[in-house]
Amino acid sequence: MSPPIPRLATVSEIRDALAPVHRRGASVGLVPTMGALHEGHLSLIRAARETNDVVVVSIFVNPTQFGPNEDLERYPRDVEGDSRKCAETGADLIFSPSVEEMYPGPHSTWVEVEGLTAGLCGRSRPGHFRGVCTVLAKLFNICRPDRAYFGEKDAQQLAVVTRMVRNLDFPVQIVPCPTVREPDGLAMSSRNARLTPEERAQAPTLYRSLRAAQERIRAGERDAAALEEIIRSVLTEAPLAEIDYVEIVRADDLSPVAILTGDCLMAVAVKFGGTRLIDNLRVSA
Ligand code: PAF
Repeated sequence: MSPPIPRLATVSEIRDALAPVHRRGASVGLVPTMGALHEGHLSLIRAARETNDVVVVSIFVNPTQFGPNEDLERYPRDVEGDSRKCAETGADLIFSPSVEEMYPGPHSTWVEVEGLTAGLCGRSRPGHFRGVCTVLAKLFNICRPDRAYFGEKDAQQLAVVTRMVRNLDFPVQIVPCPTVREPDGLAMSSRNARLTPEERAQAPTLYRSLRAAQERIRAGERDAAALEEIIRSVLTEAPLAEIDYVEIVRADDLSPVAILTGDCLMAVAVKFGGTRLIDNLRVSA
């Protein structure tokens, strides 16, 4: 078992811990998370470990990115288990502030990335990306990382954060990391833990639907509406799944495409009861 690593709860503690690191010019990799860590998160920590002198994992269930009817209260939490996993995976520090510490109030400053946030998850989760960008801007200012690591499963989040960093000149490199999947293809997510056994059995249909469309692209199909229809028809094989969206967009600016050319993203979101799952597949046509 690895020895425990420091878990710091205040902004001044993490700043003090990182001050000598910055002074000696050592590099800092940040893995921002909301905890309930799974193999997907651990792959981000390993990627950060390979390239940085110091690896910080932030664990903070950020209330400002949840809508009023979303699962903030029910979001899985396991700080002890997470701390053990961080230590075993080679992280150096954990930053796990309270809500009061991150938002001491009055809080009235928000970071909003326009355009990219209008479709996909942004349409059904108004305000979500404003909360994500605001908390990440704060984490970047607090930890001053050289690199920050994000999973490609949250493709829109990755595009939005990349744009924010470029637009606001944050001196941080955003490092995308591949989606990690269960053996049956289900993309790893902290929310998977909340699926009932019946929902869990049907959840791999998301990835299967995307793979079916990918096969048709390989066979020459380029019409986005036809491909979306294939995805929807495979998703009906999961009767417990309620489709939120099925969309094919350009990979760079997330604008909808009619005919596939260049790099595109096929993205789906479905709800199993109160649990919302997303997945995507990048395709080149
Ligand atoms: O992807 C997540 O877990 C969250 O959106 C993030 C990036 C940690 C911001 O709260």
